Amino acid sequence: MAASFSYYNSNVFVVAVTTSLLVGSLLVAFAGNFDQDVDITWGDGRAKILNNGKLLTLSLDKTSGSGFQSKNEYLFGKIDMKLKLVPGNSAGTVTAYYLRSQGSSWDEIDFEFLGNLSGDPYIVHTNVYTQGKGDREQQFYLWFDPTADFHTYSILWNPGNIIFYVDGRPIREFKNLQSFGIPYPKNQSMRVYSSLWNADDWATRGGLVKTDWTQAPFTASFKSFNANACIWSNGVSSCSSSNSTSNAWLSQELDSRSQKRLTWVQKNYMVYNYCSDTKRFPQGLPLECTVTTKA
Ligand SMILES: *[C@@H]1O[C@H](CO)[C@@H](O)[C@H](O)[C@H]1NC(C)=O
Ligand SMILES: *[C@@H]1O[C@H](CO)[C@@H](O)[C@H](O)[C@H]1NC(C)=O
Ligand SMILES: *[C@@H]1O[C@H](CO)[C@@H](O)[C@H](O)[C@H]1NC(C)=O
Repeated sequence: MAASFSYYNSNVFVVAVTTSLLVGSLLVAFAGNFDQDVDITWGDGRAKILNNGKLLTLSLDKTSGSGFQSKNEYLFGKIDMKLKLVPGNSAGTVTAYYLRSQGSSWDEIDFEFLGNLSGDPYIVHTNVYTQGKGDREQQFYLWFDPTADFHTYSILWNPGNIIFYVDGRPIREFKNLQSFGIPYPKNQSMRVYSSLWNADDWATRGGLVKTDWTQAPFTASFKSFNANACIWSNGVSSCSSSNSTSNAWLSQELDSRSQKRLTWVQKNYMVYNYCSDTKRFPQGLPLECTVTTKA
């Protein structure tokens, strides 16, 4: 199908039968139907698809959390999801939304949302794993209350870079620095995963604040899943035979305006950066932290 759907607010939706009609089914741009796009994988009824596939809720109580995964695997894509995080006292809870491949030398691109006491700020925790190795955490506060409404969290993953976005604003960039010997995720397809679980041993103020189970069940909501992506199936990419011009995301990188916006976020909202944690890496910071690519 070549129609692409975008949902705005809760009840108005716009069907944009876009130029992807011309592109055929090679490049897949779709959105918004969880019944078609994901499988609920755990939680014994705690994950629910509602409103004809437009809304998905995950919940957590003392017995279990819950989660889902995309039906498709992707090798590169621009993935968007709108999330409304657990409101009120969400301390101890973690809502995760990430891309991950299979096997013991997996690649992974993570967004995790660490809950907090009412009124205290969530932390957006990000990480990038290549060939099974992570340890590349960057954490941010947000410039809005992520529990009051839906906001868009995006992962751009193309051969040149990985960029994390919040409401279209870049917050983190991980460049392909393979030429410097730094592994980059590009030969293993990944699925989108999401889950809500209890992590009160570390999530809130490093584990000091525990989950208050009298507040359970905790619920996070998802909508407008959009994968503008190359679907990987039986060893073949849906993009391999495409010569369309509409897959601009495949070569997208930060222009100077985006670079400025990224710097603004990092300056004002970053709470942790592994690249500044010299205590943690007494043998020297990871190579990608010190390489300069600017001529
Ligand atoms: C991907 O590349 C890495 C390193 O180049 C290699 O170890 C791994 O086996 C490759 N995986 C696949 C699926 O080709
Ligand atoms: C929770 O609030 C405390 C106090 O403002 C803050 O130090 C911490 O970074 C917040 N976030 C998390 C996830 O602990
Ligand atoms: C790809 O390019 C060829 C030759 O220019 C054209 O005939 C074909 O329709 C194009 N296919 C797509 C999917 O754009």
